[in-house]
Amino acid sequence: TRVLFITSEVYPVIKTGGLADVSGSLPEALCQQGLDTQILLPGYPAAMETARTTGARREAQLSLGQYHLSLWRTRLPGTPVTLWLVDCPALFDRPGNPYQNDDGQDWWDNAHRYQLFCRVGAMMASGQVGLSWQPDIVHCNDWQSGLVPVFLDALPKRPGTVFTIHNLAYQGVFSWETFRALGLPDSLWRFDRLEFHGQLSFIKGGLVYADRLTTVSPSYAQEIQTPEFGYGLDGLLRYRSDHLTGILNGIDTRIWNPTEDPYLDFHYDFGQIENKTQCKARLQQQLGLERTGAPLFGFIGRLVEQKGIDWILAVLPGLLDRGCQIAILGSGEPRYADPLRALAHRHPGQLSLTLGYDEPLAHRITAGADLFLMPSRFEPCGLNQMYSLRYGTVPVVHAVGGLRDTVRDYDDAGAAKATGFCFRQPGPDGLWQAATRALAVYDNRRAWRRLQRNGMAIDHSWGRRAKEYQALYRAILRDRCNHS
Ligand code: ADP
Ligand code: GLC
Repeated sequence: TRVLFITSEVYPVIKTGGLADVSGSLPEALCQQGLDTQILLPGYPAAMETARTTGARREAQLSLGQYHLSLWRTRLPGTPVTLWLVDCPALFDRPGNPYQNDDGQDWWDNAHRYQLFCRVGAMMASGQVGLSWQPDIVHCNDWQSGLVPVFLDALPKRPGTVFTIHNLAYQGVFSWETFRALGLPDSLWRFDRLEFHGQLSFIKGGLVYADRLTTVSPSYAQEIQTPEFGYGLDGLLRYRSDHLTGILNGIDTRIWNPTEDPYLDFHYDFGQIENKTQCKARLQQQLGLERTGAPLFGFIGRLVEQKGIDWILAVLPGLLDRGCQIAILGSGEPRYADPLRALAHRHPGQLSLTLGYDEPLAHRITAGADLFLMPSRFEPCGLNQMYSLRYGTVPVVHAVGGLRDTVRDYDDAGAAKATGFCFRQPGPDGLWQAATRALAVYDNRRAWRRLQRNGMAIDHSWGRRAKEYQALYRAILRDRCNHS
């Protein structure tokens, strides 16, 4: 089976969030199961730079309307996975973030950029580019690839299609004028196709037209079928519920591995957690925190509403009062960054804030912190809690989506099975109660060690989870065979 995995970001080439981590590790796991999986990515500057350093080959050149583009073929660095790049400088040769300019504004022509990306994906998948390789399955991810199943739908002999929802909150919604400007056929302007409350919705392309839908945890698959988490698409998702499944994300256990993480000065594992204390001391030193045994909380993530930063802000004074330390790494909206900065300013030595994107520091916080805060309002899967578990850093999480599916609460699961602390009631009170429960156990060294070991012992690698995708692809191919 051949799979074309279409994504708008992939680690280590370009990353804004967890989608890149998944795109950088799932295709390789699928290859290990014997599926010939290849990735398609827009030719952002970082991607074209990768092409130059890896000896990429130009495999095709084409013109679509006013756009001239080339298709380059190379390897995803550090893996045997084939990576295809859509090189269209007019649309993708822009510095920095793939979706936004330096002021945090979406690029004005995102609809044009990702429609072109989708067109090329569909052409590649249906043998219209003249390549020798053609997929049996096209696996699309989030709204940026949402139109691929739409373009493929019209073709008589097409591959099977999967659309994975990594985050339903980002939908790729544009005006009716944009719909016109893209030249999409009028027949698509219907409430049961691409139209969404008078606008064009890219994600609906995937949700309506893909053979199968998946999302990144079983709980999120249920939640998005309710008005509370459905962002207006819960009705459509209920309608498609027979074809919607939740498959938990795995993690790249080579990149996130406390026994040989190159970003750490000290290494440890299940058998000698003690070295983790040295990672903590080094982190405290690096961040200018006092070298004490105070419990150290970590947070890493995008500073956006989803991540519950306002709830963290509400409990921070209480945690600081109790003598805790907190290390925060994030980038995002000033409405969260500003108050965090002010608070950090008032509590040097106790609260450290690093604004920006910092890969090495993310690893050092994951290893050096005692506890990891993840009070997300919603969380499709979440990777940081799994990284933390692997590093013996105990997560404190809101029991939603993938957090609910990966962290076992201390009181609910019992000391023998628990891996962290969960709260159900959204809001700062729930977070505060979970955090104080955690601190009570932290004071009991033996109970705490056990909690750490329970978490470290859990296997969050892709193996079994990649097999679930494989089974899904098989089911699609079987269905399509029966229908034709
Ligand atoms: P999301 O995709 O919603 O942002 P995930 O938990 O799935 O959340 O994945 C986030 C990924 O991005 C993790 O690998 C995390 O370590 C990384 N990350 C987020 N913010 C930063 C940052 N400021 N610096 C370094 N890594 C970050
Ligand atoms: C999204 C979600 C996150 C998930 C990631 C990878 O960005 O917000 O929960 O882990 O995608 O699937």
